Amino acid sequence: MTDLPSTMRAVVLKHDGYSGTMTGPTITDASEWLVDAELPVPTPGPGQVLIRLRTASVNPSDIHFIKGEYGQPRVKGTAAGFEGCGHVVATGKGAEGLQGLRVAFVAAGSGAWAEYVVTQMQMCIPLRPDISDDDGAAQIVNPLTAMAMVDIANEDGDAFVVSAATSQLGKLMCSLGRDLGLKPIAMVRRAETAPMLKELGAAEVLVTTDPDVARQFAELSAKLKPRVFLDAVMDPLSEQIFCAMPNRARWICYGKLGSDAPTLTQTGQLIFMGKRIEGFWLTNWMMTTPPADQMRVVTEVQARFADGRWKTDVSERLTLGDLISNLADALKTSDGKVMITP
Ligand SMILES: NC(=O)c1ccc[n+]([C@@H]2O[C@H](COP(=O)([O-])OP(=O)(O)OC[C@H]3O[C@@H](n4cnc5c(N)ncnc54)[C@H](OP(=O)(O)O)[C@@H]3O)[C@@H](O)[C@H]2O)c1
Repeated sequence: MTDLPSTMRAVVLKHDGYSGTMTGPTITDASEWLVDAELPVPTPGPGQVLIRLRTASVNPSDIHFIKGEYGQPRVKGTAAGFEGCGHVVATGKGAEGLQGLRVAFVAAGSGAWAEYVVTQMQMCIPLRPDISDDDGAAQIVNPLTAMAMVDIANEDGDAFVVSAATSQLGKLMCSLGRDLGLKPIAMVRRAETAPMLKELGAAEVLVTTDPDVARQFAELSAKLKPRVFLDAVMDPLSEQIFCAMPNRARWICYGKLGSDAPTLTQTGQLIFMGKRIEGFWLTNWMMTTPPADQMRVVTEVQARFADGRWKTDVSERLTLGDLISNLADALKTSDGKVMITP
């Protein structure tokens, strides 16, 4: 580590623990949650690597996390950010094989919104040279989730429902579903995004702001019989969609973009129709899926980005230095990820 600086720029958490709120992945002022800091460059322990950041992405989970609304507690003064890509510049015992490689990573030792990041070697994926830094910085969280959830959809019938389909993850799932011969039913808020979703692979697109959407969905459900609902919104409309699905349908909740809480108005749906409400969290998938299966998925993900079947749409680019002042505004732009460079 001799040629490395002793300190680095980082954007760190202002609060500890959980907040007890669930107000969604939006903020009006990032300085409520984050502060700039100069931290010591971390040292990788056994099985860990030190990565010099090239690009980090901003996911909804990052925003839930800084607000204390995510599945793990905050530690005040540590760097924020879960995902990015960069070069391995130092390794701990057992991780020497990654030295010098450009990797996609999930931060599991220190946060990604910093010039240097420590993480476990298992949280790194060496990147093919034909993968761009933008795709590399968004190579794990959404693509692996898309592969895992479309696998679930593929278990039962050919139609499945995707809410918040204009999200990066929703787009990946629509195109993967189409490629597998499935029929994704995309739910979007903005009618103008329907042609884009159809082109990407949605068999049908419904606009949730249309007052008639529940009836339109019921008609479509009777025809296509979707049995899996991949839902990142989880609001009262979600329950109406679930109730209009056929028996044995599964409502798989994996995000909370909607601000209103869903209600449960028809308990008979669970008792008499054999329907299920479940959750999906990539962290659990990574802990329970055998390494060989994960490797197959990772290889397919990189192939899809390399040949252009998938791409990461970028809406805004920020640096660590202007992140706090510009993040709230940058997140208002739909249709892509906010990317951060050092
Ligand atoms: N459980 C897991 O393991 C896991 C893993 C990865 C991602 N996720 C979740 O997956 C979701 C999508 O992530 P992403 O990174 O793909 O998001 P993203 O690209 O940042 O896109 C979010 C998009 O969702 C749409 N949206 C926001 N609020 C909405 C609402 N109330 N109703 C409908 N649409 C809404 C917006 O598009 P429009 O303005 O066009 O509507 C927004 O651009 C997030 O909830 C995230 O937390 C979960």
